[in-house]
Amino acid sequence: MQIFDSEYFGYKNNELYCEGVSVKSITDALGTPAYIYSKKFFGDKYNEFKDAFKNVNNTLFFATKSNFNLNVIKIFSNLGSGIDVNSGGELFRALKAGFQPDKIIMSGVGKTDEEIKLAIENNILMLKAESLEEIHVIDEIARSLNKTASIAIRVNPDVDAKTHPYISTGLAENKFGISSKEAISIFVEASKLKNIKLAGIDMHIGSQIVSVEPFKEAVEKLAQFVLTLRENGVNVEHLDMGGGVGVRYKDENPFPISQLAEAIVPIVKKLNVDLFFEPGRFLTANAGVLIAKVLYTKQNGNKNFIVVDTAMTDLLRPSIYGAYHHIQPVSLNAERKDIIADIVGPVCESGDFLAKKREISKCKRGDLLSVMSAGAYGMAMASNYNMRRRPPEIIVDGDKYFVVRSRENYEHMLFDEKIML
Ligand SMILES: Cc1ncc(COP(=O)(O)O)c(C=O)c1O
Repeated sequence: MQIFDSEYFGYKNNELYCEGVSVKSITDALGTPAYIYSKKFFGDKYNEFKDAFKNVNNTLFFATKSNFNLNVIKIFSNLGSGIDVNSGGELFRALKAGFQPDKIIMSGVGKTDEEIKLAIENNILMLKAESLEEIHVIDEIARSLNKTASIAIRVNPDVDAKTHPYISTGLAENKFGISSKEAISIFVEASKLKNIKLAGIDMHIGSQIVSVEPFKEAVEKLAQFVLTLRENGVNVEHLDMGGGVGVRYKDENPFPISQLAEAIVPIVKKLNVDLFFEPGRFLTANAGVLIAKVLYTKQNGNKNFIVVDTAMTDLLRPSIYGAYHHIQPVSLNAERKDIIADIVGPVCESGDFLAKKREISKCKRGDLLSVMSAGAYGMAMASNYNMRRRPPEIIVDGDKYFVVRSRENYEHMLFDEKIML
């Protein structure tokens, strides 16, 4: 089987380490399943992105939907990043982690009045509106609060991001943004509203995009809009490219951020606007692994099954997208032969799998497996289905580790539930 090895998660004496800490030493202390993140990864990826775009005024807004652990948010705040929140809950977390309101922007195709109010009351930098109706609601709420709300309008540029249909968002048929046909008239209408400041134009064409071309095509379309808007007397100060930069889960090439910069910067410089980005996965996916223990191994018919103690409740991506996550042993043993097996969890759904027909070295009960590239949309999508406790999250910094969220217990899960009947 293929082994993923990086400076963040690599082997020493056949044992998997995260930076300077042996993964087994963490799970010996805390049990499994457990999410483990490398702090260094977050900083390195943030700096790689910033470096590539250093020749243009730009701000990165970390898309915290990919990972909303308070300490991960704090790491990005310490790096000087902005943050993109997608709900009142994410806004609450961003503020709790110490983000200044003028570094926070809010996305979302269905913001409630309560969320819009919370955003405006907290003076966040900007809300990104996705329909004319929403723009009017923002204007009304801002008026009721005696404030002006800065907005960007998300345009759906009708570009094929060539990614999984569930994470493709920039096609005319998708629910996101306003249609490019109506864009000019909607911007003009929004610019006349008294309690709105129209600050920017926004897009987000999808996630896990592995080539520069769809971004370039979409930015070219948005640039044309900016020029037409100016002819119509409407100015915007920034262009927000959204997120979507892809990562390596299996055999994808590392995304060429510098080529993205080469393609985009000249277009943006001509427009004289600031550039905003909202990367999530790029900053977090390969920062994290999910460690699981083998509970049982068995054969049903000709099929090998490895039943582990993690499940779709901890990492949903394989179940909903058929997403690939590389899985490898925490302790390498060259004497073990490779087999083909389905790696499945304990949840009562056939859709509860981490991998199907996967080549993996033969396992025994008690072995530890590392599910790689699990730092994005992992814990953030975790649930309590089957009354399963969500795993702990650990951040490794050099040769130290921090339990930044402990494993849920059954009392946590009952929270405010009362027997009343
Ligand atoms: C509006 C918006 N911005 C940014 C992102 C982050 O995308 P990614 O994690 O692919 O970078 C998303 C993801 O769904 C999004 O909807």
